[in-house]
Amino acid sequence: MYKTLIDKLSKESFLTKEEYLSLIEHRDEVREYAAQKAREKCDQVYGKKIYIRGLIEFTNYCKNNCYYCGIRAENNKCERYRLTKEQILECAYIGYDLGFRTFVLQGGEDPYFTDEILSDIIKKIKTKHPDCAVTLSIGERSFESYLNLRKAGADRYLLRHETANKDHYEILHPANMSFDNRQACIEKLKRLGYQVGVGFMVGSPGQTYEDLANELIYLKKTEPQMVGIGPFIPHKDTPFAEKTAGSAELTTFLLSLIRLTLQDVLLPATTALGTVDYLGREKGIMAGANVLMPNLSPSSVRGKYLLYDNKICTGDEAAQCVECLKRRILKTGYEIVTDRGDYIQGSDKNEI
Ligand code: 5AD
Ligand code: FES
Repeated sequence: MYKTLIDKLSKESFLTKEEYLSLIEHRDEVREYAAQKAREKCDQVYGKKIYIRGLIEFTNYCKNNCYYCGIRAENNKCERYRLTKEQILECAYIGYDLGFRTFVLQGGEDPYFTDEILSDIIKKIKTKHPDCAVTLSIGERSFESYLNLRKAGADRYLLRHETANKDHYEILHPANMSFDNRQACIEKLKRLGYQVGVGFMVGSPGQTYEDLANELIYLKKTEPQMVGIGPFIPHKDTPFAEKTAGSAELTTFLLSLIRLTLQDVLLPATTALGTVDYLGREKGIMAGANVLMPNLSPSSVRGKYLLYDNKICTGDEAAQCVECLKRRILKTGYEIVTDRGDYIQGSDKNEI
């Protein structure tokens, strides 16, 4: 019966909320079948290729206070750092030599990084490496700011919506942050022609299975080019320190449902997934993910960008992670490729 639902999803790439919900509730019975179908679908679109994106975590200053996040402003145990422009460019150049053709500039919401400073960095990366894509992951900004950064050459933007349920959003965030503003930012990014990535945590405090079913409806409606999901993992110096972590098992099942719902979407097997389960990233790929985002930040700061406890790869050099990932992925029968890995239908959306 649940297999039939997976077949239907595979064929029609959409289910009702009730159908998604019953799959989530009975996932033990269909997990493997769903993964197999999701993997087949991914192979049809992307072949045996796994794309890598080089993550540069360039600032852990953040003005926000999301209850779940280790770099929240009020965490005064967090040792703050900002990479200099030169350090950021150096990371990109090292990454280029390692084969990366997409750089993700990720940071907290740090007012120090004005449009002017960021534009200069983006332009320098794009001038030196015109064959590369630049992705930003720096939170909520104004339309004008998103426009400036797009004009400077940014191609893509990751802004997880965190939850599609407004009441749940308010459980995860203080009152000065708003669900509506987050959604408005995602709309702005789409209008400006960014390839957009959204996403949410699995098993975050207050999240129900019904919320997860709604996430799939939301994703279908929003049609992002990328979806980043990972288990919620508590961080010891946050208000959610005592909450339970999300599971790799539920995360990988959702990866399969997302793959079958948005067939050609770019779907990372995240670091958080690799943190809750030693083989989490491999399992993610076997369930339908097709992107990995290893860290290119200098080793001196890696241990400081801690959104959650026990994060993996904080002691490794970029080159070590790439080698490690290549070995791990080869074992799954897949292969890491180094082209830009654009969203397969998205190249026409690239022009401003
Ligand atoms: N556990 C897992 N993921 C987290 N994020 C932030 N804090 C945590 C945590 N404790 C995710 C959020 C954010 C992204 C950068 O990392 O979804 O958007
Ligand atoms: Fe970083 Fe394996 S991916 S050490």
